[in-house]
Amino acid sequence: MSVHTADIKRITTHVIQEMKNRGEKITCLTAYDYSMAGIVDAAGVELILVGDSASNVMAGHETTLPITIDQMIYHASSVVRAVKRALVVVDLPFGSYQGNSREALNSAIRIMKESGAHAVKLEGGLEIKDSITRILSAGVPVMGHLGLTPQSIYKFGTYTVRAKQEAEAQKLLEDAKMLEEVGCFSVVLEKIPAKLTKQVSESIQIPTIGIGAGPHADGQVLVIHDLLGINKEFKPRFLRHYADLNSVMTNAITNYISDVKGKSFPNESESY
Ligand code: KIV
Repeated sequence: MSVHTADIKRITTHVIQEMKNRGEKITCLTAYDYSMAGIVDAAGVELILVGDSASNVMAGHETTLPITIDQMIYHASSVVRAVKRALVVVDLPFGSYQGNSREALNSAIRIMKESGAHAVKLEGGLEIKDSITRILSAGVPVMGHLGLTPQSIYKFGTYTVRAKQEAEAQKLLEDAKMLEEVGCFSVVLEKIPAKLTKQVSESIQIPTIGIGAGPHADGQVLVIHDLLGINKEFKPRFLRHYADLNSVMTNAITNYISDVKGKSFPNESESY
């Protein structure tokens, strides 16, 4: 756990801001269920994101688009029940905020009321400014998300690095400034050039949280299943595997199969 935040009982948006102010890196990981969230929280990350990546890693969909607000609330409330310290942020899923700002506010309120989470995240810049402003005006902390925004995958066509061209980089910088201006407490920067991350992070006061955005973001986020090496096939350049849980789990399960078939499990001491 970080030496600076180790004593803090409950992480708030103010704590996150203070971390940026004093140059302490912020850590964020996803979690979608009670057991994993308890481990992630006890390990000491400051932010837990109930990402709509649950659509991929939990439900097996190709994109994040199919997950519903009810499913996000199910995941988020499971996570909230386990978390004692981290700030829990929940993705507003595709289709729950793009229509109009009233719909966005209703979705955010449902997430906050029904899951007990502490903040919401929305993908996009200027085009969803009204929705973000309305949610913020209800007292709900908002995290922005710029760069590669997976809910727009069919517009982009690929998951490659965003904002390599000057015009897109300029728009991203303006969007980041707008997110700060309206009152977002932080912004995720996904899959953009490291140089642009540095420029954005130095241009706004609120913390930037990078994924595939290089070392200059104020914090980092990864999908927990990726960090743990659960899906061996997914190995983009930005990902560091901190474990090979795929092998660990496969070994454990094959040992179990072999013990049951060999009639060594359960033994006498494991019986009543
Ligand atoms: O849904 C998610 O997991 C995310 C992170 C990749 C930032 O949005």
